[in-house]
Amino acid sequence: MTHITVKEIKDYLGKEVKLKGWVRNSRKASSKLRFVIFRDGSGEVQAVAFKPDMGEENFEKVKKLTLECSLEIIGIPQAHPKKEGVFEFHIKDVNIIGEAIDYPISKKEHGADFLLSHRHLWIRSRKQTALLKIRHTVYFAICEYLNDNDFFRFDSPILTPNACEGTTTLFEVPYFDEGSAFLSQSGQLYLETGIMALGKVYDFGPVFRAEKSKTRKHLTEFWMMDAEAAFVEHAENMKIQEELIRFVVRKVIEKNMKELEILERDVEQLKKCDAPFKIMTHFEAIEYLIGKGSKITHDDDLGAAEEAMLTEGSDVPIFIEKWPKKIKAFYMKRDPEDPNIVLGSDLIAPEGFGEIIGGSQREDDYDVLLQIMKDENLPIEEYQWFLDIRKYGSVPHSGFGIGLERLVAWMSGVTHIREAIPFPRTIYRLKP
Ligand code: 4AD
Ligand code: MG
Repeated sequence: MTHITVKEIKDYLGKEVKLKGWVRNSRKASSKLRFVIFRDGSGEVQAVAFKPDMGEENFEKVKKLTLECSLEIIGIPQAHPKKEGVFEFHIKDVNIIGEAIDYPISKKEHGADFLLSHRHLWIRSRKQTALLKIRHTVYFAICEYLNDNDFFRFDSPILTPNACEGTTTLFEVPYFDEGSAFLSQSGQLYLETGIMALGKVYDFGPVFRAEKSKTRKHLTEFWMMDAEAAFVEHAENMKIQEELIRFVVRKVIEKNMKELEILERDVEQLKKCDAPFKIMTHFEAIEYLIGKGSKITHDDDLGAAEEAMLTEGSDVPIFIEKWPKKIKAFYMKRDPEDPNIVLGSDLIAPEGFGEIIGGSQREDDYDVLLQIMKDENLPIEEYQWFLDIRKYGSVPHSGFGIGLERLVAWMSGVTHIREAIPFPRTIYRLKP
């Protein structure tokens, strides 16, 4: 007998086939009728068990099904009698593959800590599965955009000798006779070498930050896509980011309407993002915030509350550009018009989702970069390879890094990024 998946049901109406998967729910409608919600990863279908159609013995087997047991069901897919585009599966027989006794997650409300401790099971729930599917779309949409725009994939190392984003959030691991290695915070510095060979490159992988902050936007292990391009300057760098994000939004809407519905995402709001993004300088942003009563100063970074205030009433993301050099990373290029400003940008998502991308034009002058690094007390010898890029055929260049979970959380409308990754790692959680 043909084994099909739920996704394929529409092509097998009226034919006897076999499905393999799990029981999401099973309920009694009457002494002769039961409904089983069946899922198999590809989708979910209501399976109908009607005693007169399937016989006493097989009906008894359906009665024994428990939440989350695995099984195969044999039967006939049919169009739903009332709902257009919806299908049902009329059960003839069932065989349990793996039983599940007392599945710990029930329909009643569970606390966040309980669910996180049962993350290995929680991922099966409808909302979590929807999130994982959206993550899949976002991941491949980013790659598709970059591949279509001639970026080469260039994998950067995870075990590294230097910090990329400051030393306060480094994870240190013992490394043979070399002493210590650090887990990468971003592949950017390596990508800067890659563009001198390939022109445009990107990496996509896990990065690590020993974040002591306990916010809903910080993980200690998260996935970052870093992109870097030669001969691209600050304004064009933002244009690429805008195009890329709008492409991702379109892909999610195209591929994940069902999932967005399960998550109760306001899709109309999401659609509005596919329009030109706004740009504001850091100076203008601070002035605006002060005008709104904030105590922030011109030397400050933006916190979650300020980011939310800035995008309030805006349908599209906002670039905050031209930051004070003091509060940004050493590699950002000085603004030729003001040496205290760097040509960096943060992209802030609307609806309170906050920063999703950090990027900048890079300092490409050897002597200027060397001086900055000396001023910041960076160990020059350790970074000589990075300085070398400025010594042998330096070019203007720019790049940016997207936090995958931040972007997925925004697309999905979930407020905590721990749900946007299969197994979240935070300061308080390493298990399961
Ligand atoms: O702004 P960040 O620190 O920029 C960089 O690392 C650059 N080297 C990237 C580059 O230019 N290639 O981090 C980039 C993005 C942030 O905008 C945010 O979306 C995400 O990474 N991010 C985090 N996501 C989850 N948990 C954390 N602790 C994060 N820290 C940053
Ligand atoms: Mg940042």
